[in-house]
Amino acid sequence: VTINLYPLAKSILFKLEAERAHHLGLTMLKAAHTLHMSPLIFGKPVHAPVKVMGIEFPNPVGLAAGLDKNGDYYAGLSACGFGFVEIGTVTPRPQPGNPQPRLFRLPAANAIINRMGFNNLGVDYLIKNVEQTKFEGVLGINIGKNFDTPVENATADYLIGLNKVYPHADYVTVNISSPNTPGLRDLQFGEALDKLLAALKREQAKLADVHGRYVPLAVKIAPDMDDVALRQLADSFVAKKIDAVIATNTTLSRKGVEGMPHANEQGGLSGEPLRHRADYVVSVLSLHLQGALPVIAAGGINSAADALHKLQAGASLVQIYSGFIYQGPKLVQDCARALSTVSSTAA
Ligand SMILES: Cc1cc2nc3c(=O)[nH]c(=O)nc-3n(C[C@H](O)[C@H](O)[C@H](O)COP(=O)(O)O)c2cc1C
Repeated sequence: VTINLYPLAKSILFKLEAERAHHLGLTMLKAAHTLHMSPLIFGKPVHAPVKVMGIEFPNPVGLAAGLDKNGDYYAGLSACGFGFVEIGTVTPRPQPGNPQPRLFRLPAANAIINRMGFNNLGVDYLIKNVEQTKFEGVLGINIGKNFDTPVENATADYLIGLNKVYPHADYVTVNISSPNTPGLRDLQFGEALDKLLAALKREQAKLADVHGRYVPLAVKIAPDMDDVALRQLADSFVAKKIDAVIATNTTLSRKGVEGMPHANEQGGLSGEPLRHRADYVVSVLSLHLQGALPVIAAGGINSAADALHKLQAGASLVQIYSGFIYQGPKLVQDCARALSTVSSTAA
């Protein structure tokens, strides 16, 4: 039996400016983990194993990228019951990101708008953290490009990231869908996409040889494109033998938050208002891919039923960010329990 302490923690955290709350919340989780309190507070993680991308996941509910950009907190985060955690986005060189404020809560919609802009301490710092962290779970590392690297040279940044994180990751996510790095989303289309994917696959083959281990590559996409573009993207992933697609990143749309405080802040919108669009993207991809590669679904999961919908839309795994901020660790356990009944009946 566990007591849900999150409503209390949230009542304190939500009184603070969003980015300060972010750091305090993560520090509290880390402290709980260091003191071996996590199992007492959060209960035992749900055991509902699934195999995706050749990896055995203890349960299909993951932490989405961007909450732990530098890998400072992921062991403590994982202890909330996640079946996997994705750290990053990390860039080759450290960069400060956009000026603050750059993170906004829209509590009336269980939503967040952010324009962080890949604030991170650089890939070498992240790797040092991973080397020093005792962790048995599944770890994804999400890579991006520095804001001042011209988009024409983006491939070079992704190759640096891939080379450095490869020996430390269970899977690597290529983020070409953040709305807060100018030009980044252009990499999702046409020749730029094909060149990037080809270069990454060549490097992955080399690295698999060098390290004697194949580390799968996932590509994370935006929700803001039409069905034709989505299917073209899916075809490119199949042709290039990409190992998984993560759908989706935040949206530029403001549907569902019109007129609310902060709704007109620049950046990507996440949380509940994103859910329907993200579900739709997952179903278009899944129908088109027919299992050729797995879909990892993110966007607006705020209840166990929302997570179930993602699986019904065709996803193999799910990821949560905003829902975790609004509902806390209980949401992770609820989702994992709900999905465990489905995946066991489906198997
Ligand atoms: C504050 C914030 C920062 C984020 N940073 C990243 C990031 O660095 N890299 C990335 O791939 N996605 C990032 N995301 C997107 C999330 O990983 C996720 O794809 C998106 O928020 C949709 O899921 P959600 O509705 O559960 O939040 C970020 C989201 C938020 C709210």
